[in-house]
Amino acid sequence: MRVRMAIRLATQNAAMTDFERLNAIYWALSTNLIHKVPGAIVELGCNAGLTSVWLARIIQDLAPERELHLFDSFEGLPQPGVLDSYLKEGDCLASIDQLKMNFDAWELPQPEVHQGWFEQTLPDGCPPEICFAYLDGDFYDSITTSLTHVYPKLAPGGVILVDDYCDLDANPRAWDGLPGVKKACDDYFGENAPQLEVLGGVGDLSLALIRKPLADG
Ligand SMILES: C[S@@+](CC[C@H](N)C(=O)[O-])C[C@H]1O[C@@H](n2cnc3c(N)ncnc32)[C@H](O)[C@@H]1O
Repeated sequence: MRVRMAIRLATQNAAMTDFERLNAIYWALSTNLIHKVPGAIVELGCNAGLTSVWLARIIQDLAPERELHLFDSFEGLPQPGVLDSYLKEGDCLASIDQLKMNFDAWELPQPEVHQGWFEQTLPDGCPPEICFAYLDGDFYDSITTSLTHVYPKLAPGGVILVDDYCDLDANPRAWDGLPGVKKACDDYFGENAPQLEVLGGVGDLSLALIRKPLADG
């Protein structure tokens, strides 16, 4: 793993990520690329692209032919629903120009960027087959929309990491600021779904890993 790059990104993007998240992303994505799980890599809620450049670097190192698709409103968060807390409409605002500059700064090829609300961009923009997805939309509706479009397209063995999934029973240290995220996943898959696993760490990591079974039934 490129430890120096991860430390720099964790420092630069401390409001959105940390070293443990980047390490978990590295482990999950690199494993799937090495095992040749087919499909594109997507991030839903890419903001200024400071986690996206990490995805892009892993792709460049291990499977440079893979496509990277990024989705964001670039208008910040939508209106929160009743299950959401902590953040409000318009928070987490970033621009496409910032994202492009970050890719240039890390000397990485520009990704496929889909600007707009997930409901509008995913029906046509979501790649037909997905190897790895990072869902970071923060709110109940955003995560529900993300799962509805991404999970059916996930290749067998494909992985979704959902940021801010907090299950205090599984990981008492996890950060519990965005309860809509867990509720959206549990409503989509059902509680205690076998394909969903909670990741832990030494810090306050709140991350769920969802793996598509290799074979149905
Ligand atoms: C926490 S930030 C993402 C941080 C980024 N993944 C990172 O690690 O640097 C959440 C992003 O999700 C986007 N977002 C949330 N809900 C959305 C929706 N329904 N449609 C489009 N963008 C959305 C926001 O604009 C915001 O940039």
